[in-house]
Amino acid sequence: MLSSELPRLLLSMSPDLVLDDFLDADARARIERLSRWAPPGIAFGAEDLPEAELAEAEVLITSWGAPVMDEAFLARAPRLRAVIHAAGSVKGFVTDAAWARGIEVSTAAWANAVPVAEYTVAAILFGGKHALELRERYRRTHSEAGLREEFRAVGNYRRTVGIVGASQVGRRVIALLREHDISIKLYDPYLTSAEAAQLGAVCVGLDELCATSDVISLHAPELPETRHMLDARRLGLIPDGATLINTARGSLVDTAALVSELVGGRLRAILDIVEPMPAADSPLFELPNVFLTPHIAGSFGNELRRLGDAAVDELERLTRGQPFAHATTHRELARSA
Ligand SMILES: NC(=O)c1ccc[n+]([C@@H]2O[C@H](COP(=O)([O-])OP(=O)(O)OC[C@H]3O[C@@H](n4cnc5c(N)ncnc54)[C@H](O)[C@@H]3O)[C@@H](O)[C@H]2O)c1
Repeated sequence: MLSSELPRLLLSMSPDLVLDDFLDADARARIERLSRWAPPGIAFGAEDLPEAELAEAEVLITSWGAPVMDEAFLARAPRLRAVIHAAGSVKGFVTDAAWARGIEVSTAAWANAVPVAEYTVAAILFGGKHALELRERYRRTHSEAGLREEFRAVGNYRRTVGIVGASQVGRRVIALLREHDISIKLYDPYLTSAEAAQLGAVCVGLDELCATSDVISLHAPELPETRHMLDARRLGLIPDGATLINTARGSLVDTAALVSELVGGRLRAILDIVEPMPAADSPLFELPNVFLTPHIAGSFGNELRRLGDAAVDELERLTRGQPFAHATTHRELARSA
């Protein structure tokens, strides 16, 4: 329960982030209408949280770099009832002690999933056109001669896309692909065939997905059981010329095995995240069959505003006595990103 007055609110995020990137003037005005933001207009780094304000705070709006809510932190924040996270996973800072105290937690992971899904669908469609290889070729030859013979395999018509993980991102990708002449296979150990069919996908095992997809897109969370889920054996099952897209986590793929497939030229890859981070002399920067981006698929630039707006919407629900629209629970986290 919040106090009957406007709740006391504190903001905390990494000092490397810029609050204006999350909150425009409207969002700030809404926060000030809905709460006692102390002191207004400021977000503190985890190390710099002011003791007096923390002791009074009932609601914490957080983002990347949020304070780890261990026993010592919770003792400094005795009135804290709710955390609204303007970013993705809360695993790194909402501790067992915070859950045990019954603090309500909301996350904007759904909003962070939006740009990842957009990036993925753009990658699938543009990748299916072999646009990047074609650009390289055009730069070299300045000619259209021979294109049709050389690039017969190009195109998105009746392709099969294999989605790994019916996660928030995975589901959005499937929904966005519905408009296209593309069939979707889906692997998720927690999903039934009927649930997959409702999403518009066919539920298959991971080996079958690898062996029968033209594009494989990873959207599973980083968990002990997903580490190297695409190992050398599974990469070997993927058909020649197919594309692997990874916007999820680098640890899902055995990078050494993938690099060896890519150097051999058998597969193509669109990678937003690689583990370990590629060294300056990594072939991933140079190979014509690889499109490597510096972890931009998630909220970036003006997409951070969506996270800020999502947080203010949740604050509004809280102050009206309504449940969070995007509450997350301790139980869910075991299977989540
Ligand atoms: N590139 C970026 O900036 C960026 C941004 C957001 C999310 N991500 C990553 O994208 C991925 C999806 O994020 P999310 O928030 O949609 O995830 P999520 O928390 O919604 O995923 C949870 C779902 O994953 C499924 N799952 C669990 N174990 C699985 C397994 N072994 N195999 C396949 N599926 C399994 C379960 O159905 C579960 O419901 C994560 O790896 C996340 O870290 C990356």
